[in-house]
Amino acid sequence: MKIRKDFLSLAVPDISETERREVMEALDSGWISVGPKVREFERQFAEYHKVKHAIAMSSCTTALFIAAKVLGIGKGDYVIVPTITWQSTANIVEQLDATPLFCDVSRDTLNIIPEEAESYIRKFGKKIKAIIPVHHSGLPADIDKFDQISSKHGIPVIYDAAHAVFSSYDNKMIGQFGIMSAFSFYATKNLTTGDGGMITTNDDDLAELCRIWSYHGLPKDSWKRYSSESASPHVQCIVPGYKFNLTDMQAGLGIAQLKRKDDLLSKRNFLVEYYNEILADTDWIDRPVFKTEKGKYGNHVYVIKIKDEDVDRDKFMTEMRKLNIGTNLHFYPVHLNLYYREKYPDAVLPNADFLKDRILTIPLCTKYSKEDLKYVADSMSYIYENRLAHKTILV
Ligand SMILES: Cc1ncc(COP(=O)(O)O)c(C=O)c1O
Repeated sequence: MKIRKDFLSLAVPDISETERREVMEALDSGWISVGPKVREFERQFAEYHKVKHAIAMSSCTTALFIAAKVLGIGKGDYVIVPTITWQSTANIVEQLDATPLFCDVSRDTLNIIPEEAESYIRKFGKKIKAIIPVHHSGLPADIDKFDQISSKHGIPVIYDAAHAVFSSYDNKMIGQFGIMSAFSFYATKNLTTGDGGMITTNDDDLAELCRIWSYHGLPKDSWKRYSSESASPHVQCIVPGYKFNLTDMQAGLGIAQLKRKDDLLSKRNFLVEYYNEILADTDWIDRPVFKTEKGKYGNHVYVIKIKDEDVDRDKFMTEMRKLNIGTNLHFYPVHLNLYYREKYPDAVLPNADFLKDRILTIPLCTKYSKEDLKYVADSMSYIYENRLAHKTILV
């Protein structure tokens, strides 16, 4: 096997002249913290998702935190979260002094199982103050079912849409669902601002609270205090808020990426189709589910599942690294992370347990070519056929 010279990391950001121009415009304008570009990015994002409000944040983590905070989640409350997610989904619950209830996920879609969430509701009833399903890999969770659960039990649903900027459900953009959704614009996400996040909601009051709590506790639009139209030093906080805003430099990136969204999505879909094609006969893996009856196309990450139990997944990752390919896990179950397993030792989640040594994320991003992906597929076959990651040594 001829090893490629340059390292193929899991994903790299796709930055073009359009992004450079927008960022330079922000730098030259004098508004480099929160200003008009942030408001414009919010407006365009809300328009794209056909939702009333979009409130920009410094990350999806802070977006999730603020969404839970404005729902009043705090000490003594319980919040249902999937365990196959990035730590943030659960961490923000802990940070608010509440308790995360870790829910199992589907072995196929990696999305939270609504019935498992319901069994927690039967057990803990009114103590449960929110459910935070993740649209894993951009594949929408079972939104119809969560809508039913939410109205039956009066429990709000916040969607962790970190992977799902391009996703839709029932032909509607994903930001319209639940009481709020939280998006991520981290460097390798479908749409990036370097770091950044967004809350979307159709609820006017919650939108206003999100703004206030995420910006020092100051009343709406107080960022205008330095602008010519409403200069006034007398801005007072009405709650002890945080400082979680996006900046105009980041929003410039976001606006440029939104301009390119159709290209970015179609390139992503094209590459995923190509992976599906070249991995179709690889019978020792399962390819990801990217579409359900109503949910489609996030295509954020390409997560395969290794079916052959004789393959050591971690060793497989090491062998891929030797061939100059970066891989990752989306995700190691959060309830098994050191902090959580010590605090909640009783959580038993069989599907997560099954998946934890089988899932593997292979490189995908819009900067990559068919040749890059072919190299990944060929490397996987090479490692498998030469038994470089097998547990059993043949003599
Ligand atoms: C499912 C999920 N939720 C939340 C986050 C946190 O996003 P951010 O890095 O923007 O805080 C991530 C990050 O990758 C994620 O994958």
